[in-house]
Amino acid sequence: MNRTIVGIDVGTTKICTLVAEVHDTGKVNILGVGLTPSKGLDRGVVVNIDEAVGAIATSLEKAERLSGYRIGTAFVGIAGRHISSLNSRGVVAISRPDHEITRTDVARAVEAAQAIAIPTQREVIHVIPRAYIVDGHEGIRDPVGMAGYRLEVETHIVTGEVMAIQNLIKSVERAGVGIDDLVLQPLASGAAVLTEEDKNRGVVLVDIGGGTTDIAIFIGGGIWHTVVLPIGGSHFTNDLVYVLHTPHNTAEYLKLKYGSVDYPAEPLDPDDDTIDTDTFSPGERQQVSRQLLNEILQSRAEQLVEMIGAEIRRSGYEGLLPAGIVLTGGSAQLPGLEELTRDMLGMPVRLGVPTNLSGLAEAIDSPPYATAVGLVRWGLRHGLAVSQSGPQQAQHNWRQTYDRFKMWLREFLP
Ligand SMILES: Nc1ncnc2c1ncn2[C@@H]1O[C@H](COP(=O)(O)OP(=O)(O)OP(=O)(O)O)[C@@H](O)[C@H]1O
Ligand SMILES: [Mg+2]
Repeated sequence: MNRTIVGIDVGTTKICTLVAEVHDTGKVNILGVGLTPSKGLDRGVVVNIDEAVGAIATSLEKAERLSGYRIGTAFVGIAGRHISSLNSRGVVAISRPDHEITRTDVARAVEAAQAIAIPTQREVIHVIPRAYIVDGHEGIRDPVGMAGYRLEVETHIVTGEVMAIQNLIKSVERAGVGIDDLVLQPLASGAAVLTEEDKNRGVVLVDIGGGTTDIAIFIGGGIWHTVVLPIGGSHFTNDLVYVLHTPHNTAEYLKLKYGSVDYPAEPLDPDDDTIDTDTFSPGERQQVSRQLLNEILQSRAEQLVEMIGAEIRRSGYEGLLPAGIVLTGGSAQLPGLEELTRDMLGMPVRLGVPTNLSGLAEAIDSPPYATAVGLVRWGLRHGLAVSQSGPQQAQHNWRQTYDRFKMWLREFLP
């Protein structure tokens, strides 16, 4: 069966709306793409609603024009430093005479796992069951139909600050679209670039965007750890602005054209090493050393990779990740970053690109679009029904029409 699903990646650098026909096989046929520079966001969080609404509306219009679809609702990515996550266990007794575990028992166990103290200014974004334990037997993926006295569930719970969540919801709704669900960006990116084998064996997904670096650790097919670091490509660019005294646009251009973190140790011929570029004074030029440019990028990259390594160690799962690290997001394209990460962390590292795409896929099968592609994949796997896009537009208010409890029941029950 095919479903038309819309994903909106509200990134710090760009907004990307995808209208896609998603097949049960996982194949994603891109019908429309709406790409526009982001506005009103800082490190993954909406800081100016009017600007964000304008940019989201532009991206929606483009995607609608290209696809011929009227976008009613969409899956929307969320990130930012305000995100935090924890693992929680829920336990229930199976007291019926036959002791056969039903979907209702599973739902009760998941609800019990959610009975944790969440501060009033935070709310739950995801409650993801990972594995079940029946009478002490671990690692059960689907307990329905089994017999037992005691059912336990291990869940991964992601929370965020109410205000940051509300500002994102407001921005999307004011741009004229209802929200099918909010999805943590690294979970979406993981859905686009990781294989089942990666997730089963143990893997770290690292999405290095413009404003944030989003990390998700998968083991045994489930999600164990998520975190959003407030560093991304814009920090690399800003370092160039400060050290080289170049305007921001020039620094971004230099980074994309000449930037690398694997600059040869041997100095280049001076003719190859020098770049003629502008300064903050109109008409005034300066000579910039490529070696210096790349040393600046390298020191920022080393800081970022150290933070990624510290986060992996903090998770406690360091020894359980044979599939290593999959880097994605726009900044993962910085030449040499894969090798640097491999050398510094001593783990296998590869670049993750969205695959299994057709239609208008050409521009989309690259790292910056992992989140957008992952959102439509997530929509197929966890979505309630067909995204309400198409000729008839059905508006709905996310908060009013959504009962979160029912939602995760339908999302995750086996
Ligand atoms: N070839 C490249 N080399 C280095 N950096 C690159 C390259 N291509 C893109 N980038 C950087 O990638 C960043 C944008 O990445 P991406 O589109 O994934 O960000 P985003 O999703 O908008 O942001 P975020 O996820 O942080 O909110 C920019 O900082 C850009 O400079
Ligand atoms: Mg991103």
